[in-house]
Amino acid sequence: MTTYSLRKGSAEKIKSDVVVVGVVQTEDGLQAAPGAEGVASAYGRRFAPLLSTMGFTGKAGETTTVPTGGVIKSPLLILVGLGERDRLTTERVRRAAGVAARSVSNASTVALALPALDADHVRAIADGYLLGSYAFTAFKSADAPGTPNEVVILSDVARSKDAGRALETAQVVARATCLARDWVNTPAGNLTPPLFADAVTTASKDNKDAKVTVKVTDEARLEADGYGGIIGVGRASANPPRLVELSYKPRGAKAHLALVGKGITFDSGGLSLKPGAAMTTMKIDMSGAAAVIAATFAIAELGLPVRVSTFAPMAENMVSGNATRPGDVLTMYGGKTVEVLNTDAEGRLILADALVKATEQSPDLIVDVATLTGACVIALGDRVAGILGNDEETVKSIKDAGERAGEAFWPLPITSEMTEKVRTNSKVADLAQHNSERWGGTLYAAAFLQEFVGDTTWAHLDIAGPAFNEKGPHGYTPSGGTGIGVSTLVQVAQSLSDGHRG
Ligand code: BES
Ligand code: ZN
Ligand code: MN
Repeated sequence: MTTYSLRKGSAEKIKSDVVVVGVVQTEDGLQAAPGAEGVASAYGRRFAPLLSTMGFTGKAGETTTVPTGGVIKSPLLILVGLGERDRLTTERVRRAAGVAARSVSNASTVALALPALDADHVRAIADGYLLGSYAFTAFKSADAPGTPNEVVILSDVARSKDAGRALETAQVVARATCLARDWVNTPAGNLTPPLFADAVTTASKDNKDAKVTVKVTDEARLEADGYGGIIGVGRASANPPRLVELSYKPRGAKAHLALVGKGITFDSGGLSLKPGAAMTTMKIDMSGAAAVIAATFAIAELGLPVRVSTFAPMAENMVSGNATRPGDVLTMYGGKTVEVLNTDAEGRLILADALVKATEQSPDLIVDVATLTGACVIALGDRVAGILGNDEETVKSIKDAGERAGEAFWPLPITSEMTEKVRTNSKVADLAQHNSERWGGTLYAAAFLQEFVGDTTWAHLDIAGPAFNEKGPHGYTPSGGTGIGVSTLVQVAQSLSDGHRG
């Protein structure tokens, strides 16, 4: 276990195994970033030439490790590039702390002397380090690499209440994000719907500080209660579907937020089978459920005065003799009928049931999170998620919340043409689940979901791209599950408790 603390002190005087400082690019060459001044003066005129000899350019994300040979009190110095001095944002600092976390290999004590001018910076440094040092080793037989006993963030505002709170918040949110990452990274065979539901129950018992109640509905009850979407998608699997509901009801709640997350524990495509290569990462198709569940725990642990009702439909989209067929009609929870035209567009079917269920609670706002469409990855790439909804202001405030949280969302429209197609393209049912035309698949999926939220204010986050990092780590984002959504949803709850829209 690593303990994190805040201390006023200077980088050149602290005695720890490693000290991390930032370097910025200026018109006059490389310069020590705030927090690193003392280190630079300890090296004196040698500082800049030393860096340039090593080929260090100060570019954001760059890092180099230098044995200090007694120039400062600590034996090892890690320099992290922060890019141009005039463009130094808190996000840059957050990413630099993530890069630093991955450069610290075997140290027992680490001092972070990155720019920590205010509580927001302290939050960014803690976020970056906590998220950047994540590793998923559950299925590796070698021992996991050691983690430091102590990480100290050096800051002039160390003693301020805001800074202390920022560090606390960062720890709660990062722990939740890493819980979501663990679930996403767990192989689908080890996280079937029943096992995922059990894991949520266990996580809730482990986290007594979060006053969250968990309710799990099994397949018999789902069938009896008319959850046609969840049953229709989950019926071909040997591992039956579940609906997991979480509830956090603080006294004096200022708003009521409902969260819905797509929990497809594996997406083979069903009878509209995916090609083999497209299936290999489909254990990640429960990233939305992981995010909303973990975020609920974090919001409760922080004690935010917002009521949260969370719905995570869980199903495995498989193939068998009793699978839902293209052309079948499902009656969704609430009674609307849907013609299934492509069993690989399964996410919207389980979400529809859960969205209707969420509206029954009359929340002020519903946010759903889902790895819903490959089209969204084509539109926005793998680092930006799509955001769509039925209220422009809400979409904007959630996008802003994402920006503060270090998660990128970009708005896409739900056009009346798409809504028209959803409502008229089926000759046999109320709604057509799938559009025969590929283009604008993200918009169509959202238009379909919109049919199930009634008048409730609603936003939909399509995280198909950034839920999973198939490449190497960058900034504070590791390879594999990213946990995207957790931090933004906590921020949304924070804004709601401050009286904003989300
Ligand atoms: N889970 C996928 C979407 C996805 C794709 C997530 C890539 C992450 C990475 C979803 O269920 C799906 O299969 N969508 C289809 C929809 C189509 C059949 C309308 C898609 O995007 O191809
Ligand atoms: Zn899917
Ligand atoms: Mn699918």
